[in-house]
Amino acid sequence: MSNRRILVTSALPYANGSIHLGHLVEYIQTDIWVRFQKMQGNECHYICADDTHGTPIMLRAEREGITPEQLIDRVWHEHKADFDGFHVEFDHYGSTNSGENRECAEDIYRKLKAANLIEVRSVEQFYDPAKNMFLPDRFIKGECPKCHAKDQYGDNCEVCGATYAPTELINPYSAVSGAQPERRNSAHYFFKLSAATCQKFLREWTRSGTLQPEAANKMQEWLGSESENKLSDWDISRDAPYFGFEIPDAPGKYFYVWLDAPVGYMGGFKQFCKKITPDETTSHSTKLPKDGSQVAGYPGLPLSGAGLFDEFWKPDSNTELYHFIGKDILYFHALFWPAMLQHAGFRTPTKLFAHGFLTVNGEKMSKSRGTFITADSYLKQGLNPEYLRYYYAAKLNGTMEDIDLSLEDFVAKVNSDLIGKYINIASRCAGFISKRFDGKLGNIDSSATAEFQSALKNDEIAHCYEQRDFSRALREIMRLADVANQYIAEKKPWELAKHEGKDAELHETCSTALTLFRDLTLYLKPVLPTLAVQVESFLNIPPLIWSDIRNPLSVGHEINTYQHLMTRLDPKLIEAMVAANQESLQPMTKSHSPVRHAEAQQHPIPSSLPSLKGGEAKGMLANDGATAIPHFKKGGPGGGAPIAETISIDDFSKVDLRVAKIVNAEHVEGAEKLLKLTLDIGEEKPRTVFAGIKSVYDPEKLKGRMTVMVANLAPRKMKFGMSEGMVLAASGDSPGLFILSPDDGAQPGMKIK
Ligand code: 2FM
Ligand code: ZN
Repeated sequence: MSNRRILVTSALPYANGSIHLGHLVEYIQTDIWVRFQKMQGNECHYICADDTHGTPIMLRAEREGITPEQLIDRVWHEHKADFDGFHVEFDHYGSTNSGENRECAEDIYRKLKAANLIEVRSVEQFYDPAKNMFLPDRFIKGECPKCHAKDQYGDNCEVCGATYAPTELINPYSAVSGAQPERRNSAHYFFKLSAATCQKFLREWTRSGTLQPEAANKMQEWLGSESENKLSDWDISRDAPYFGFEIPDAPGKYFYVWLDAPVGYMGGFKQFCKKITPDETTSHSTKLPKDGSQVAGYPGLPLSGAGLFDEFWKPDSNTELYHFIGKDILYFHALFWPAMLQHAGFRTPTKLFAHGFLTVNGEKMSKSRGTFITADSYLKQGLNPEYLRYYYAAKLNGTMEDIDLSLEDFVAKVNSDLIGKYINIASRCAGFISKRFDGKLGNIDSSATAEFQSALKNDEIAHCYEQRDFSRALREIMRLADVANQYIAEKKPWELAKHEGKDAELHETCSTALTLFRDLTLYLKPVLPTLAVQVESFLNIPPLIWSDIRNPLSVGHEINTYQHLMTRLDPKLIEAMVAANQESLQPMTKSHSPVRHAEAQQHPIPSSLPSLKGGEAKGMLANDGATAIPHFKKGGPGGGAPIAETISIDDFSKVDLRVAKIVNAEHVEGAEKLLKLTLDIGEEKPRTVFAGIKSVYDPEKLKGRMTVMVANLAPRKMKFGMSEGMVLAASGDSPGLFILSPDDGAQPGMKIK
């Protein structure tokens, strides 16, 4: 048995967005690899956490009227449920906003400082005088200096593709408040990546086999030649207000989120060590024996949290460290992170495993096409998560190529491989063993197992798993399934069963087929872990580990009655899922861009209104604290308010407007301004919306009227109950408030576009 000691991580998802099928490419890939390592008998720890810090999360919480801690706590539970749903089994799922992570970040920072690799410099940056905060580049908008397109982000133009500094934008404005930003100087802390020691180290490290060839080439481009030394210093601080860790001895300065995010791998592992080996200081941890006995599930693991942590992170560690990441965050993981670790006296990663992005039906995931599919919506359709695990595995080959989820191919592959080739072996043979042979296995036909034996000799499937070439592993497994099916087709057990005197042959055929089925299950177990558990129970065997492949099931072994293992994938479920995502009435809090990474921290929804903190809505209508607040330009027609900034059709389509029938309207006891409306928008259950229209509308007169509502606004908990949307109304400088009505003929639920 091998005794490798391995620490594995997946990239930490931002704590302000839902997990979608793009994210799952990485977590499923990592989980398969980890499960394979564990089946091999290796000590393998899989650590991940939510990435919780930064300006977008701070502003998002403010918009929702909650604290960042409340936001990240809620999202942590959502993420955890999604991962559990797809059988992604972390040994620890933590948060970067933890005491352990703070300790690790401060420790690394202090060591870098002691090594003379931290420098403080003054930086001129845009400052929002209305919000009293410095603005990250993505929160400044203005006219592109090259093509003069309006409303471009502070770092690049989406129209002409130009990149520039935010200070080059013409007529810049804050995307947070709409105010004109000022230029101000502030002290920033830099990690001196340009120092000779960092460049020399990175040049060697990136060439030493730690990266895939494509990634290593990219790094050489970024590093430049020895005479070029292209790397510049990295700004690791941000000014208050910022949700993150304050830098030691630097009041009002915070670590930039990308500093403490990778440190989260360490912080998460530290939490894990405490969890499995608690000491007196961690009273909240589960108490485990301190008598030197082993930790359940971790044979051979010594009971010392601090010792375990050091063994994995000390510079000369003989353990292995692997980071699974998307190719878009290579820069952080292949340059900043190893340089930080090396110069703070820790070990560096053994390898980085970067993967490509997901496309659906050959295109970027898209909400309008319904292919922007969240993990939650997949599971809610009742789709088996192991279908997707299988399909992704069949596509993943350990390179940085993008992978495509073709929905038609998905259905075809699951049904032909999993049901047609694999499950059918058991479903065709198990019944005979139970009914005719008291559930006991007979002799094995060695001629049928020869192909399996020769596959075993060079251990190709294990090799493919190790190399993360899961597609090749599955091709080989399906080839073996074909061999098993061919054997059954030739023997025709259903015919043997009909003829007298063929019992021995029938017994041998079915026993052989079930043995082959056991082997296939073992090979598929990293990909289909819950199905494997069902099979283990049906075959009445202990949890399969890799070495079991050498021990055939014995003659006389008693199995349990076959229970249905997996159903065919019904294409209608896929259609329904796409339709549900297309017409999604989910609140905006669930929306994301298609790319795996970085999205949640970008494209902020501007907001200048004070957020509403529970209780009665302060404004005219409930829920307005969470909507996009436009930037106002000078002048304009109508009730005095100038026309808002131009938005794209994509911006507009984010707002799901529906025709709503007011089925009930009533006063709310104790509320000065609110009416409680019950709205039918064609859903199973009507919505409740609290609207600040009591002063102008008699509830009786509203009943039965049609109006317009925002249907995908985040639900807001108010003093009087949950408000599940917002009704639209017009108002101007003169008194009056006028709710909208559609023309005759409009039906509840119709989309307004
Ligand atoms: O791109 C992202 O989604 C980041 N939250 C990944 C962080 S990975 C690690 F560095 F923490
Ligand atoms: Zn431009």
